[in-house]
Amino acid sequence: MANSVPLMEVRHMYKNFGVTVALNDVSFELERGYVYGLIGENGSGKSTVSSIIAGMQPASSGEMIYKGEPWNPTSMLMAQEHAIGMIVQEAGTIPNISVAENIFLGHEKMFMSGPFVSKAKMNHAAEELLVKLGIENHFKPSDRTADLDMQARKVIEIAKCMYWQPDLLIVDETSTALSHEGREFLYKVMKEQRENNKTVLFISHDLDEMCEHCDKLTVLRDGVIIGTLDKTEYDQDVIRRMMVGREVKGDYYRSDMNGYSDEVVLKADCITTLSTLTCFDLELHKGEILGIGGLSDCGMHLIGRALFGVEKILDGKVVAADGSVIKSPVDAINHKIAYVSKNRDQESLGLSATIYENIASTGYKINLFFANLISKKKEKEYVNKQVKDLMIKCAGVHYNVNTLSGGNKQKVVFGKWMSMDADILILDCPTRGIDVGVKASMYKLMYDLKMQGKSIILISEELQEIIGMADRVLMMKDGEITAEKFRGPDLSEHALIDFMI
Ligand SMILES: Nc1ncnc2c1ncn2[C@@H]1O[C@H](COP(=O)(O)OP(=O)(O)OP(=O)(O)O)[C@@H](O)[C@H]1O
Ligand SMILES: [Mg+2]
Repeated sequence: MANSVPLMEVRHMYKNFGVTVALNDVSFELERGYVYGLIGENGSGKSTVSSIIAGMQPASSGEMIYKGEPWNPTSMLMAQEHAIGMIVQEAGTIPNISVAENIFLGHEKMFMSGPFVSKAKMNHAAEELLVKLGIENHFKPSDRTADLDMQARKVIEIAKCMYWQPDLLIVDETSTALSHEGREFLYKVMKEQRENNKTVLFISHDLDEMCEHCDKLTVLRDGVIIGTLDKTEYDQDVIRRMMVGREVKGDYYRSDMNGYSDEVVLKADCITTLSTLTCFDLELHKGEILGIGGLSDCGMHLIGRALFGVEKILDGKVVAADGSVIKSPVDAINHKIAYVSKNRDQESLGLSATIYENIASTGYKINLFFANLISKKKEKEYVNKQVKDLMIKCAGVHYNVNTLSGGNKQKVVFGKWMSMDADILILDCPTRGIDVGVKASMYKLMYDLKMQGKSIILISEELQEIIGMADRVLMMKDGEITAEKFRGPDLSEHALIDFMI
């Protein structure tokens, strides 16, 4: 009998944020022993519904029934204590404390030794957990979280959730922060949940991943549930149409073989960074899309940072087309180099500023009206155009960026850097968390820029994206280039994967 009650029922849930209706009469059930996928465009309400289940915010109305009882959580800690764990879309760890302190945040009392919290006891418990999960080689319990990369920080969040052995594990847009090995770890955790008769609610924009790992897929559009498909019914064209409400072709990558010029527009000349890169060389050409791929710690993200002048270079130099050396982001911007950082919230967005202020912040060059006066009219036109082209879903441009969904924040970053009219774009995971419809327009924009003679470095965790867009691909491992491949029929995921592991 107990098993016939669904683990979680959501009934007629509504959520409003001022004029925005984020959830509009949402009802669904989650049973034990399944991995459920929740998919929908940016701003469709996925994070909102999952964060309500996990106690991060209340619904405006509606009810939830958990294990047959009314469920009205008032905090994430309360959810955790009731075996509901959520890995949030944004950074969910605190930088200045240790791995162990993050894992046991809010539960320090478990490790009291007299009046104090015993760090040794806490570290010991964390170590046991890491060993149990098979990730003890990734980091140590005593490591400072801020010193670890984004993937490691996400893995800490997964470990933190798993400590409480959740009956319901919610994974919100986590896989795009992970590279190959991190994803494998996440999939393993999800699979074990299912095998142990527990439940997963999985959110991702990667359709292949969703179809492979989910037993059922529920599609949300504008806060409304459009339908649920069983694994046997999966058809990516159908899913895309359900999401977007119109036909979206699957092959949104470029199909041409247009080349690029020999002219070098940016060069890394034997650069050495604090970690990973030692005397690293790279040349970017005019009109080239250069793809760089590998595992997350292979050094590819560092290259983007170094080329834009944000990573300290110990030796060697970054040289622009006119021969001058790029030493700082100011130098880079003056040489018309733009940079979309993978670390969106810390490095690319002014989180306390409005959408308008963020998009307009680098646009000063093209919006210059007379001498140093920025034309307000031009600026406004520009911002509105970006909001329209990138389909940024917002209640208005003068709202804070913090009110946007994850993918819509990413679009603001993209729009902001496009405003500079850069000649060189360094894009680190630019489509992270972006839905299929807008991905297609970003790829089209990249291609148009290439055809205008601009140059792009596309650093990505997704090999498909690199293969689909790049003229030339560099694969990296441990700070070194392990392969250089050119656009052509033989370029496949299979042909590249060996060079990264
Ligand atoms: N704190 C908030 N204040 C105002 N509006 C909000 C807030 N949080 C979410 N919204 C709005 O609610 C809607 C749903 O957002 P939500 O974050 O759930 O989308 P999502 O499906 O998770 O999108 P993504 O794929 O981009 O992560 C969006 O229109 C968003 O702008
Ligand atoms: Mg979201």
